[in-house]
Amino acid sequence: MEDLRNYLNQIRRDFADKPLEEQSVNDNPFLQFSVWFEEAVNAQLLDPYAMLISTVDEIGLPHSRVVYLRNISDEGMVFYTNYNSQKGKNISASNKIAITFFWVELERQIRIEGTVKKVSEELSDKYFAARPRESQLGAWASNQSETIKNRAELEEKLKQFTEKFKGVDVPRPPHWGGYIVEPTKFEFWQGRPSRLHDRLIYIKNNSDWVISRIAP
Ligand SMILES: Cc1cc2nc3c(=O)[nH]c(=O)nc-3n(C[C@H](O)[C@H](O)[C@H](O)COP(=O)(O)O)c2cc1C
Repeated sequence: MEDLRNYLNQIRRDFADKPLEEQSVNDNPFLQFSVWFEEAVNAQLLDPYAMLISTVDEIGLPHSRVVYLRNISDEGMVFYTNYNSQKGKNISASNKIAITFFWVELERQIRIEGTVKKVSEELSDKYFAARPRESQLGAWASNQSETIKNRAELEEKLKQFTEKFKGVDVPRPPHWGGYIVEPTKFEFWQGRPSRLHDRLIYIKNNSDWVISRIAP
């Protein structure tokens, strides 16, 4: 533990000098997001589509976990999960959500805040049908976020559902589907030397986006 404390106290690194400037960003944050996302893909980052989502429960306690971004439209960002999970229950209690992407190799962070709602049943069906069969069966076997006795219980349930759906297409469980996050704010953060990082934020004002710079 002492080694760890020393390490945490001493470890420092500076960031490269790759500026993020008002005149070079897109007016539309979705387009700016897609520019940065494409750069992350081209840089061959592992899982650039992994994002931290933070939800709040009924007493205002925040809960964060990583999910995969699975679609993006003009309206927002889509991820898929179990509607009965902790995050599902949080979202039923409060539709407020925050997303964070951190791409360490690019020294970039994107923060998004907004509201979240379920996608249509049709969209969830379509995405579920395209998943590998093992993942489809896993969605039936796992009561996500519930306490289980042991791993054997999970594996037994998987066996039961594998048997149940033998020879037929696995239907989407009613408690599994997508959510779409509709952003009201984006922040694009670029690491710069001497902790003088660039932070450009986009705030939604009716249908327009207002860009401003905030201090690092
Ligand atoms: C890289 C990565 C990707 C993940 N993608 C998903 C996902 O797309 N959907 C999902 O429900 N859980 C995903 N998980 C698992 C979640 O982090 C989390 O354990 C799970 O959704 C239960 O969260 P909850 O109990 O807060 O609802 C992923 C985890 C990691 C580390």
